[in-house]
Amino acid sequence: MSKKLGLTAAGAVLALSLAACGGGGAGSGTSNNSDKSAQDLSIGVSMPTQTSERWIADGKAVKSQLEKEGYTVTLQYANDDIPTQSQQVDQMITQGADALIIAAIDGTALSSQLDAAAAANIPVISYDRLIRDNENVDFYVSFDNFAVGVAQANALLTGLGVKNDNAPDGTATGPFNVELFAGSLDDNNAHFFFDGAMSILQPLIDDGTLVIKSGETKIEQVATLRWQQETAQKRMEDLLTGSYNDGSLVNGVLSPYDGLSRGIITALQNAGYGPTTEGGAKPMPIVTGQDAEIASVKLIDDGVQSSTIFKDTRKLAEQAVIAAKAFLEGKTPEANDTKTYDNGKKVVPSFLLPVETVFKDDIQTVLVDSGYWTAEEVKAGQAK
Ligand code: GAL
Repeated sequence: MSKKLGLTAAGAVLALSLAACGGGGAGSGTSNNSDKSAQDLSIGVSMPTQTSERWIADGKAVKSQLEKEGYTVTLQYANDDIPTQSQQVDQMITQGADALIIAAIDGTALSSQLDAAAAANIPVISYDRLIRDNENVDFYVSFDNFAVGVAQANALLTGLGVKNDNAPDGTATGPFNVELFAGSLDDNNAHFFFDGAMSILQPLIDDGTLVIKSGETKIEQVATLRWQQETAQKRMEDLLTGSYNDGSLVNGVLSPYDGLSRGIITALQNAGYGPTTEGGAKPMPIVTGQDAEIASVKLIDDGVQSSTIFKDTRKLAEQAVIAAKAFLEGKTPEANDTKTYDNGKKVVPSFLLPVETVFKDDIQTVLVDSGYWTAEEVKAGQAK
């Protein structure tokens, strides 16, 4: 039964008075659940895709942590297909979800769902990717996404040995041939990652330390629709044949996500890049990443990929659960950022988590000691 129908007159008065105290989200009537126990409340969790292992981990972590709190959970994946996600969220609303946690495929494609959620007083938590162009986003949980891009650029420079403030021991002056990749343009995060990275790289492009032989430096030129590994591989192949057929070598690749990094590395390997110790004449460039996906952690351990950015999805899930719980108890979740994430309609109160750069030497301390991956999983390059 929908929450609205279940609302008693007394509950309505309570809801109104709590709303007047500032409780509830943009959907506002969220406090009409504050007299219900967790067992009576259900939460819809909508995730983009199962092709990336990080979203599988996110889905599992959110579901199990919500269930631990006693909530009933509907978790759905949308195969990176926008109509599928819209339809899944529609269904969660009609089936009476009391709160929604959504990691959008396309940040601008869920407006009618968000309007419907607001009309039914269902609070919406935007998970990792900001939902844009709609005022009915009640809260945002994510990482410091600009800082991710900065960390990726610094990891690239550290790998190259370029001297800069963040790599004070570096002595290399270049010039280095570097190519840039970005994520999906419909994902708000892709812009933050790229802007963060370019805030560090642009001055070095301008002074000639870094050379982008393809000339492709705008996010529209380097973006990767839906973050597809194959698309990145294809673009890297095209870059190699188009801009490096004169015998010059790629020294570094800015990649914003491990899945893309693996596609890029495959293209490079197919073109003869690899470990020089094995007789190859073309050293594998410094390739960055993000998400600490297990296949990439193994590549880092093997010295193939240079770095990744670790974002602890367990902690992100925890923040999503804390926010959902607050809304369902008629409270406002605590934000630690109320400035950065303007979704085009409003600045969405956010809780942002910090990120960590992982090179080979950090795998043990950052990923294994924290229990994110076991040493066996790292060796196997596969989650158990
Ligand atoms: C982004 C996310 C990244 C990465 C990417 C591809 O939205 O912030 O961590 O997972 O999607 O899935």
